[in-house]
Amino acid sequence: MMIPSAQPKRNSIVMRVLLFVCGVGIFVGVSHITSLSTEKDAQLRLTKSLEPFATRGAIPLDRTNRWADDPKAAAFGSLLFHDLRFSSNAAVSCATCHDPERAFTDGVPLAVGVGTGKRNTPTVLGAARQRWQTWDGRADTLWSQAAEPIEAAAEMNFDRTSAVQLVRNDPTLFAAYSAAFGEMPLGLPPVEFTQRARPLRLGADMDEASIAWDALVPSRRAAIDEVYSRMVKSLGAFQRTLDAKSSRFDRHARGDAQLTAAELRGWVLFHEVAKCDQCHSGVEFTDGEFHNLGLPGADGRLPDDSGRHGAIPKLKVDPYSSAGAFSDDQDGKQATLVRGLKSDPETWGQMRTPSLRNVARTAPYMHDGRFATLDAVVDFYNTLDGAVALDHHREAVLRPLGLTAEQKADLVAFLRSLDSIENSEPD
Ligand code: HEC
Ligand code: HEC
Repeated sequence: MMIPSAQPKRNSIVMRVLLFVCGVGIFVGVSHITSLSTEKDAQLRLTKSLEPFATRGAIPLDRTNRWADDPKAAAFGSLLFHDLRFSSNAAVSCATCHDPERAFTDGVPLAVGVGTGKRNTPTVLGAARQRWQTWDGRADTLWSQAAEPIEAAAEMNFDRTSAVQLVRNDPTLFAAYSAAFGEMPLGLPPVEFTQRARPLRLGADMDEASIAWDALVPSRRAAIDEVYSRMVKSLGAFQRTLDAKSSRFDRHARGDAQLTAAELRGWVLFHEVAKCDQCHSGVEFTDGEFHNLGLPGADGRLPDDSGRHGAIPKLKVDPYSSAGAFSDDQDGKQATLVRGLKSDPETWGQMRTPSLRNVARTAPYMHDGRFATLDAVVDFYNTLDGAVALDHHREAVLRPLGLTAEQKADLVAFLRSLDSIENSEPD
């Protein structure tokens, strides 16, 4: 009697063991399928997130500059860009700070020209793709930006009258100017202006150069301004030829190169976890807009750079802006945008989101060059240590990220993959 009863018992133990094994098997199988499908989802999301980078549009047209794509104007602009004589000490050119050997930056926290400036030098590579120039966007076209450094005291400290005279009297510069623009409205050489003369800039005190400018007869002033506007439009044309080329990141998106696993993890962190592309968005890694990250001022003081807030009033009265007298498209879209700008309180301290192309070569970082390395930048975003809470002016999207050391390294590896200087292949 025992035997038959033992049989089913043994059977039921076997059954239970079998069921257990099966159960584990099903469980393992299901979780394997689940992890496969999450992996597949992640892979799909990754592929999709890279799609926009497979094609990068051409540099947008600049209708405010009639000579924007004129090779003769660009050739003249290239001469101007590298010429040290357009500075009061004959020792500073655009290329001094925008050094081609350093990805068109200078490697120092604050720009050093005739004096020391208040901001860090951004690259000019790809600047033609930006709607606003400089950290606070006080120039709204590439050519109008060039009008300022030539006369700015801390940069080249020159004046447009001497600049025009130099072009008129130097045979090489004069030939390049004439090739692009024909006759110069200044009479026969040599012209000799006896004094430095330039208009007074908004917010600056009257000085000898601005008094001398006011003393010039209006027709002379108009002639100088005309030639000066063509000089800066030529600088604009030249800088349009300095695009940021395709990086390894773009080429990976096109299927022409392979990023490392760390670089790809870094991109996923940038895009999905830290959501850096809420501001560093799109193919140029910038929304082209202005934000206040709450970077603390020096020595625990409040930040003192008014950023966008101070830029708007300057832009609105600038005769070299897209809406100004020297623009070739005074009623265009950009001009309308400029006329409608308002310097609201929340614009205080805002800076333009910089593009991150070639960022590994443009250290130090931020508008005041406060961070020496990309690791330091990522550390800031990771903890927001010291960030100043600017009540309603504060960016609401920034949160401490709490990334691990490995994740931070991945994020930096991704940022480095945006380098295009090493790329010698044609785009
Ligand atoms: C003394 C160093 C220095 C010199 C000289 C200089 N720059 Fe700059 N450049 C800077 C700094 C600093 C900025 C940022 C200014 C700011 O945000 O207030 C800048 C900004 C720019 C920008 C805007 C880039 C961007 O991403 O917003 C362009 C374009 C530019 N400079 C072109 C020129 C040209 C053209 C010349 C010569 C006519 C020139 N620079 C001379 C230091 C210099
Ligand atoms: C709220 C918009 C915003 C977000 C989100 C954001 N940034 Fe920025 N980023 C900026 C602005 C604005 C600056 C310039 C700030 C300044 O100089 O005052 C900047 C500067 C930088 C710079 C310095 C570039 C240079 O040329 O000096 C790097 C690098 C950078 N951001 C990377 C990142 C990374 C990585 C993340 C995500 C962890 C991120 N950013 C998130 C807006 C943003």
